[in-house]
Amino acid sequence: MKKLESREDIELLVNSFYDKVVKDETIGFFFNDIVNVDFKKHLPKMYSFWETILFGQMSYKGNPMAVHFPINRLEAMEKHHFEQWLKLWKQTIEEKFDGENADIAITKSENIAKLMAYKMEMDRKL
Ligand code: HEM
Repeated sequence: MKKLESREDIELLVNSFYDKVVKDETIGFFFNDIVNVDFKKHLPKMYSFWETILFGQMSYKGNPMAVHFPINRLEAMEKHHFEQWLKLWKQTIEEKFDGENADIAITKSENIAKLMAYKMEMDRKL
């Protein structure tokens, strides 16, 4: 197993994750149908997002929560969707990496997903 320690590692992780996501029966349709995601633009954002979280590079400047509200209005993003997202993310990490950064990538994603699920649920009640 390899440590998660470079931009190249993150690119491999994120690419492998989205290979799973787009084929996934539970959440793939968000990316393929609800939003017709331009992966040429989306993937580099995700590399920078994780680089910022794991290595403090500050290369990501967006607002990760904000992008999900309009999607949630088109199609409810519910708890079981976030659970599936997390399952695929953890699976991808555990297939390829171990060590401290791999653990942090899992813990952070759990915290963000929990907060995001809560915010999406609240937003649907407004
Ligand atoms: C059910 C769960 C989720 C779904 C269906 C989902 C869906 C999406 C989609 C469709 C986009 C692309 C928007 C676009 O290109 O216009 C996006 C962007 C993004 N997502 Fe998610 N997402 C989920 C969970 C998460 C989680 C848990 C995280 C963080 C751990 C996350 C982080 C991001 C980030 C950083 C972006 C890029 C934001 C930007 O443009 O700056 N997402 N998401």
